Amino acid sequence: MRIVIVGAGGRLGAALMREYAREFDLTGFNHAQLDLANAKEIQQKLSPLNFDVLINGAAFTNVDLCESKQPEAFAVNADAPKVLAEICSEKKAKLIHFSTDYVFDGEKREPYIEDDAVKPISVYGESKRAGEKNILALQDRSASAKATADRHLVVRVSWVFGPDRPSFVDQMIKRAREEEKVQQTDHPERLRLTRQRSVISVADGGPDAG
Ligand SMILES: NC(=O)c1ccc[n+]([C@@H]2O[C@H](COP(=O)([O-])OP(=O)(O)OC[C@H]3O[C@@H](n4cnc5c(N)ncnc54)[C@H](OP(=O)(O)O)[C@@H]3O)[C@@H](O)[C@H]2O)c1
Repeated sequence: MRIVIVGAGGRLGAALMREYAREFDLTGFNHAQLDLANAKEIQQKLSPLNFDVLINGAAFTNVDLCESKQPEAFAVNADAPKVLAEICSEKKAKLIHFSTDYVFDGEKREPYIEDDAVKPISVYGESKRAGEKNILALQDRSASAKATADRHLVVRVSWVFGPDRPSFVDQMIKRAREEEKVQQTDHPERLRLTRQRSVISVADGGPDAG
């Protein structure tokens, strides 16, 4: 399988690059190699490549900065996924795109399911939701995407953590070492651990799917 990963320098992208390097024909683009805010550059760099799966691990993930940089947040989180989906559809390749629980307002006291009504309450959440919609709208218009195998995937995750960049989990560990009590901000029963290995398995409908 030929896989292209954009956002190859981020937490998720770097982990996927390591995980898949030996097993697959892998090409990665980090931010310096491909600027997703530039639609023309995306076309120029990705259209000539042959691949079966494109994994988008890139995003404008600084939630606070998104509030003051709305156009940039929407360019990367909403417009770029649309261009990526268009390129994949032309090639009959599958796009695996990552979204976030920030498409919800966090008020529900039970685990969220896919059909729950979205209600983003931040520019980050709104821009990520717009990205989801752009991909799914394009897919729904495409006659060739009727079969499940051809469909792009939008995967909503919450905390992404790993060795490549500090994350929320690292903050909690640091605070637990320094403070007597640490306020828990989420409900453990709402969490489910997913290994990065599962990404391709989900794409294949394999045992880790779901
Ligand atoms: N982190 C979390 O806890 C969390 C929670 C829920 C969902 N998610 C989603 O999961 C996915 C992966 O998140 P992550 O934690 O791996 O994020 P991350 O570590 O912040 O990585 C995102 C990557 O995107 C790159 N990027 C930003 N702007 C770009 C642009 N204009 N062009 C090309 N690349 C650009 C960043 O490069 P630079 O750093 O060089 O700018 C970075 O390498 C994202 O879709 C995110 O929305 C993350």
